[in-house]
Amino acid sequence: MSLSTSPTILIVAAGRGLGHALAEQFHLQGWHVIGTVRPGSGHTKLHDLAANGGVEIETLDIGEPEQIAALRRRLDGRELDAVFVNAGITTEDQNVTIGEVTNDDFTSVMLTNALNPMRVIEALQDLVSPTGLLGVMSSGQGSITNNELGQREIYRASKSALNQLMRGYAARQPEPKRTLLLTAPGWIRTDLGGPDAPLAIEDSIPRLVTVMLDQLGTPGLRFLDYRGEVVPW
Ligand SMILES: NC(=O)c1ccc[n+]([C@@H]2O[C@H](COP(=O)([O-])OP(=O)(O)OC[C@H]3O[C@@H](n4cnc5c(N)ncnc54)[C@H](OP(=O)(O)O)[C@@H]3O)[C@@H](O)[C@H]2O)c1
Repeated sequence: MSLSTSPTILIVAAGRGLGHALAEQFHLQGWHVIGTVRPGSGHTKLHDLAANGGVEIETLDIGEPEQIAALRRRLDGRELDAVFVNAGITTEDQNVTIGEVTNDDFTSVMLTNALNPMRVIEALQDLVSPTGLLGVMSSGQGSITNNELGQREIYRASKSALNQLMRGYAARQPEPKRTLLLTAPGWIRTDLGGPDAPLAIEDSIPRLVTVMLDQLGTPGLRFLDYRGEVVPW
């Protein structure tokens, strides 16, 4: 049962930053948006967007497997055209090295950026149309080829791990018909990106959404930036 005749995208982590901007853009493009916020988030920018209709709000902390299962149950019978997992974190000290990082900090970034997005994809994939899109927010920092300057070691490693896990997922699809995307939005001024980033959200996300829409209907996995350029693994 679909609540809407518009195509539907589920965006995980849409309360602020790039996720909220993605929800706004898909909404502007006429899509029905289901956006998630973490339980107990209170009023977010997604709630403002939802006030105009065409946007539903769900709750999910991707670090809680029972919440992923509960969301899957709540969405039972829905037909989605796309699922995009945007959630991500970095270490508090972004430049902590692998020699200095604590087990807790390393584990937390790896779980949030690599394992848990894939858990969401695995749990929700069957709701997505056979020719739909499954995507995860990666980062140019996840490119091993492009890592010549170092820095942000833990974050980089987590996004490289995410990319590898998505490649494993893609490789085991028997008849790949869906679009699988890892996206690199550029370095953007958000809470995570910080104030020194060269791009504003508006410089990247409308273009990234165009890239995602252009990719719909082309099966297989790609790692693309917000200009539609292939990012080397
Ligand atoms: N900004 C950049 O320059 C940049 C560049 C490349 C890639 N990215 C990636 O883009 C994505 C969004 O980043 P952003 O810049 O918009 O950062 P942000 O403003 O810090 O937003 C992070 C988002 O992730 C959510 N999140 C974190 N942990 C979560 C969890 N366990 N369960 C559910 N949601 C969780 C946050 O929800 P709460 O509001 O509940 O905390 C928030 O919606 C991340 O994956 C990031 O790695 C960002």
